[in-house]
Amino acid sequence: MPKTTSQQQPDPMSVPSQKFDPAGLLTKPELLPVFVTPGGALFNEDCLTLLRATKSESIDTVFADPPFNIGKKYGSRVNDNLLESEYVEWGHEWIRECVRTLKPGGAFFLYNLPKWNVLFGTYLVELGMDFRHWIAISIKFGLPIPGRLYPAHYSLLYYTKGKPKMFGKVRTPIETCRHCSGEIKDYGGHRGAMNPNGVNLTDVWTDIPPVRHWKFKSKKRSANQLSTKLLERVINISTHPGDVVLDPFGGSGTTFAVAEQLGRYWIGSEIENCDVIFERFRSEDLHHHVSSDYVESLAA
Ligand SMILES: C[S@@+](CC[C@H](N)C(=O)[O-])C[C@H]1O[C@@H](n2cnc3c(N)ncnc32)[C@H](O)[C@@H]1O
Repeated sequence: MPKTTSQQQPDPMSVPSQKFDPAGLLTKPELLPVFVTPGGALFNEDCLTLLRATKSESIDTVFADPPFNIGKKYGSRVNDNLLESEYVEWGHEWIRECVRTLKPGGAFFLYNLPKWNVLFGTYLVELGMDFRHWIAISIKFGLPIPGRLYPAHYSLLYYTKGKPKMFGKVRTPIETCRHCSGEIKDYGGHRGAMNPNGVNLTDVWTDIPPVRHWKFKSKKRSANQLSTKLLERVINISTHPGDVVLDPFGGSGTTFAVAEQLGRYWIGSEIENCDVIFERFRSEDLHHHVSSDYVESLAA
């Protein structure tokens, strides 16, 4: 398991007490995982193969961070340069399957460019999902695009299948100045009445670091790894310990590592080589980002 660097993070060995049986989630038990841990199972498959084989209403939260169709090279099995209509059609296909696998009240998070999430958000409504939030994840080192506004956020859609069955309330620390450590806001004179555990998390997340330092990143993967801090938040907001999280686009396994660490079961697919995910679970050298979130677990 990766090391953690925060006192606030839970015991990395907090795996669920019941042994995980991925076959219990599948309608095709012949589909075999390439890697299993005490809390999860990874399938070296096209996400549609795993999703189609997953039982309806069996998953508590889906988190998806698909390719953005911007011409990135992931490997020979991924074409990240589709016609726009093909990309949207493919998105509809896997999104529809994700929604089918969700339990009533389950949550769907979709991380993508605003350009695609506008369309996918509309599609989720057509599928009967309830809008909760468009979360803006601020980009620290974006590049200007000629003739456009400077892109300063990614979109994280948060929808639920009907009334959410879980809403873990998250508080973030009161913001202080990096230089003088003084508090930045005066909270309209109500500072004294504020919750000592922090302020309510908003739908603009400015504190998600890019994964740049090798301490956090596999040498085998140079791009496209999300911060563990983002996944911690998503999982704490939408699941209880022992719930099941599905990620169709495994990448470097951020969702899987965080789910395991937080005592959630996980299941996921990655179509390309999965060595980086194996390494993530076996290496002692990869750290999680520090999270200062305070989680109040509230039933919705
Ligand atoms: C943006 S990355 C995900 C990164 C991941 N969230 C992380 O933090 O490491 C998208 C991943 O989806 C994989 N992928 C692309 N098409 C796929 C498909 N049809 N089925 C499964 N995985 C796919 C790519 O190989 C890539 O690793």
